[in-house]
Amino acid sequence: VKYDLILVGFGNVARRFVDLLHERRRQLARDFGVDTRVVAIITRHGSAVAPRTGSAASVELDARRLARVVAAGRRLESGAPPSDPLGVLDRALRARRGAAKQGRLIVVETTTLDIKRGEPAITHVEKSLAAGAHVVTANKGPAAFAWDRLSRRAARANRRFLFEGAVMDGVPVFNLARDTLPAVSIEGFRGVVNTTTNFILSAMEAGREFDAALSEMQAAGIAEADASLDIDGWDAAAKTSALANVLLGARMTPADVDRHGIGGITPARVAEVRRSGRRLKLVAEARRDGKRVAAGVKPVELPEHDLLAQLGPEENSLLLRTDLLGEIAIVQRSSSLTQTAYALLSDVLTIARGR
Ligand SMILES: NC(=O)c1ccc[n+]([C@@H]2O[C@H](COP(=O)([O-])OP(=O)(O)OC[C@H]3O[C@@H](n4cnc5c(N)ncnc54)[C@H](OP(=O)(O)O)[C@@H]3O)[C@@H](O)[C@H]2O)c1
Repeated sequence: VKYDLILVGFGNVARRFVDLLHERRRQLARDFGVDTRVVAIITRHGSAVAPRTGSAASVELDARRLARVVAAGRRLESGAPPSDPLGVLDRALRARRGAAKQGRLIVVETTTLDIKRGEPAITHVEKSLAAGAHVVTANKGPAAFAWDRLSRRAARANRRFLFEGAVMDGVPVFNLARDTLPAVSIEGFRGVVNTTTNFILSAMEAGREFDAALSEMQAAGIAEADASLDIDGWDAAAKTSALANVLLGARMTPADVDRHGIGGITPARVAEVRRSGRRLKLVAEARRDGKRVAAGVKPVELPEHDLLAQLGPEENSLLLRTDLLGEIAIVQRSSSLTQTAYALLSDVLTIARGR
């Protein structure tokens, strides 16, 4: 099956995804019968849309070439400002009605998240599902703010709305729960899900300064562009909300997560906790509390034998508390752009396998 892809957002993740599709083209065809072509790329600064008819080469974009163009700091071709990404998306969806009807249209959403509202991703998901497209995203916004609504819409439209990359990159969290734990009920979870804060706390244990550790995470492209989103716990709260909504059936937004960041933590406090044989981690947690779900993100002093206490500076982990399997641990040893791009690829393959 040949899937038409509309890429909304063409930053680091989407560009790595385009290369990954190319690197794995043969394997995707051989093992899954899947082929893809990029038919539109939409950003704030400009867009590129392939014509609907013409020669085989002209109806798809040379996405890898365009990735190099954007990576070099130049604009996408038709990017005459002021750009109108929503208008372009509407037109691209309309132009690909045929593919949508056949279940062959996938919108790949990787825009920047507005942590207060979950936009513009939520609107992108809604428009795409309404037009009959499947949606895959690495964005936390849609699942953190509107999972209930969007998953119902997807079900009604008989299309998929998938977001494996929203938490722990390509390491299966949502896929694991959905596909491999039939009849198991998840009752709560605990985890370390933000790399920047974990790295800073670990660096302070080693005697380094907060700001130096943060700068290192920013230079590595791991910290959010606005570092306060990491430091104040917003990123972890968005992930916690997404996890609680999907795994525990909560209906919350990141604002409902009882959130405490690591901004006020001094090297002296970190050293003192370490001397007492404990370790400080920013822990995300949620559990059922009667009919509601209580969720929080806060720095916690963990005993050394706690699995979360043993995580290295760049490791993440999620512990799921279940009724039939006790506690299950998922550990991510390292993170990279390739892992996030793989999350999108695995979502595309989930769609293909579901046909
Ligand atoms: N980087 C990671 O390792 C990682 C890991 C997991 C999840 N994620 C999530 O994946 C998403 C993408 O991350 P990234 O690192 O690729 O970000 P990025 O490099 O900053 O790229 C963001 C892209 O979104 C576009 N964009 C922003 N607002 C838009 C709008 N309203 N309409 C259309 N396009 C818009 C930007 O266009 P302009 O260039 O025109 O501004 C840019 O192309 C984010 O939600 C992020 O939280 C990232």
